[in-house]
Amino acid sequence: MEHDFWQERWATNQIAFHEPEPHPFLRAHIARLGLTPGDTVFLPLCGKSLDMDWLIGEGLRVVGIELNQGAVEEVFDRLRLAPERQAFGGLQRLQAGSLTLYIGDFFALTAEELGAVQGVFDRASLVALPDELRRRYAPHLVSLAVKAPMLTMTYDYPQEQTPGPPFAIPFDQVAALYADTHIAERLEIRAITGPLAQRCEGDEIALLLAPR
Ligand SMILES: C[S@@+](CC[C@H](N)C(=O)[O-])C[C@H]1O[C@@H](n2cnc3c(N)ncnc32)[C@H](O)[C@@H]1O
Repeated sequence: MEHDFWQERWATNQIAFHEPEPHPFLRAHIARLGLTPGDTVFLPLCGKSLDMDWLIGEGLRVVGIELNQGAVEEVFDRLRLAPERQAFGGLQRLQAGSLTLYIGDFFALTAEELGAVQGVFDRASLVALPDELRRRYAPHLVSLAVKAPMLTMTYDYPQEQTPGPPFAIPFDQVAALYADTHIAERLEIRAITGPLAQRCEGDEIALLLAPR
């Protein structure tokens, strides 16, 4: 989707994707990332999710990137952190304590700038993107995460029930996007809940993408 689409969603508070608690898949399956305290987890397209607070509470370092400045600043305010700011190449980098968040376009972030990450938690990022962007997103995420395992999720529902985002991407399609570098494993399937359940009926699937 175009950046304007998302900025408009934030500006008009159409952010039904934002959950009031850390995502249950994160709590249930974080162990599969094999992390130890002090490791860094990357959250692409992180919004202002409470997943970040939860990961920091587990003793992990969090790095994320998000287009919307207000969302990023809200996370630091919520955690009572006063970040140092740096601007470079169209991105802003805010850092304090165990949290580093970039404001700007995911596709402008480089592995060199991001630094080493030991795991990825991708909630509602891949499914936020239409097919053409998804095909660019997966290899770029792999280039950033290098050999890190990834805990991710997808929705599987009849696309004709509602236009995306979030888009319906069956498990096999997610597996195919990462097939060159990662082996996909289905970890959990549950019925779609929350505001999306008012638009469609289907499954929310947790996946592990383990580097080959
Ligand atoms: C569906 S939301 C998911 C947010 C978050 N992961 C969560 O679970 O609440 C997708 C987010 O991606 C952001 N986004 C979309 N395109 C982006 C891009 N190219 N670079 C950075 N962020 C982007 C949007 O602003 C939005 O906050």
